[in-house]
This record gives sequence, structure tokens and C-alpha cells, in this order.
Amino acid sequence: MSGKILLLSGPNLDLLGTRSPEIYGSTTLSEHVSAFRSRAEAAGYSVLDVQSNFEGDLIEAVHAARETCVAIVLNAGALTHTSWALGDALATFDGVTIEVHLSNPAAREPFRHTSTIAGVVNGTIAGFGPLSYVLALDALRHLLESS
Ligand code: DQA
Repeated sequence: MSGKILLLSGPNLDLLGTRSPEIYGSTTLSEHVSAFRSRAEAAGYSVLDVQSNFEGDLIEAVHAARETCVAIVLNAGALTHTSWALGDALATFDGVTIEVHLSNPAAREPFRHTSTIAGVVNGTIAGFGPLSYVLALDALRHLLESS
């Protein structure tokens, strides 16, 4: 299979490695991205990674992906719990969409129990630390390659 995957990271994920390592681990975002990219490239995909702390940038990246990408893997950070606009943008994307979290938001504070994204993606992977990204790649490959 081939095609481009948008790996989209929201607010504060640029601080991974030093931000609450007891929750998110000590792996940096660029290490997560490189690991994801090598596995994706080995399977024949290319990866565009975008991180932004701004909601509008993430929405525009989703819009651009409508013409260029076969899948979106998204860790929206705290925008997961607040951004109906990002959820609406994702709903316009025809390819495969996977929501990813390093931690398990359902086991944390109540405000993290809501996702504006969960209802418009193919599925959600949460709580597996760095493995969440690997599992997201496996899931999207399954959806793209078995259809
Ligand atoms: C997160 C979980 C969110 O609740 C939080 O705001 C984040 C990271 C995760 O990967 O576990 O920034 O998306």
C-alpha cells in the first residue's frame, strides 16, 4: 500500500520528554515521529508530521490532508476535550482517521473523559505510551489494506 499519512500533534506535545514524564514518558515528540515514520515507510507510506499549539493550524492541516493524504493519526492534546471545530474538520476527511493518546484520558480527571473527536474517527487508541502510535499504524494499515 502507498500514500501519505498526516501525523498531527496538538498543544503541548512539543514538550514531550520533559512534560509530566510520569504520565507521558520521557520520549520526545520527534522520537515518536521518527519511530512512526520508519515503520510507516517500511510499509510503503510517507508521513507528513505537523505539530501546532494553535487550533486553527490543526484544522488547516486537516483541510490540506483532504486532497493529499490517505489517513490521519491525531493526538490533539487537550483540544481533544474542547474543540468541536477540530472534530467538524475531521468529519470532512474521507480517509482513515485514528485518535491517539499516550495516557488513558478515561482514567484521569473528569474533563478528559469527553472527546469531541471520538465520534468522527474510525477508532481511538489510548493508554499505551509510545506503543499507542505503533498500534495506530497497525490499525490504519488494517483498515486501508483489508478493504
Ligand atoms: C493526551 C491526553 C490529553 O488529555 C492531554 O491534554 C494531552 C495529551 C495524551 O496523549 O495522553 O495533552 O492527548
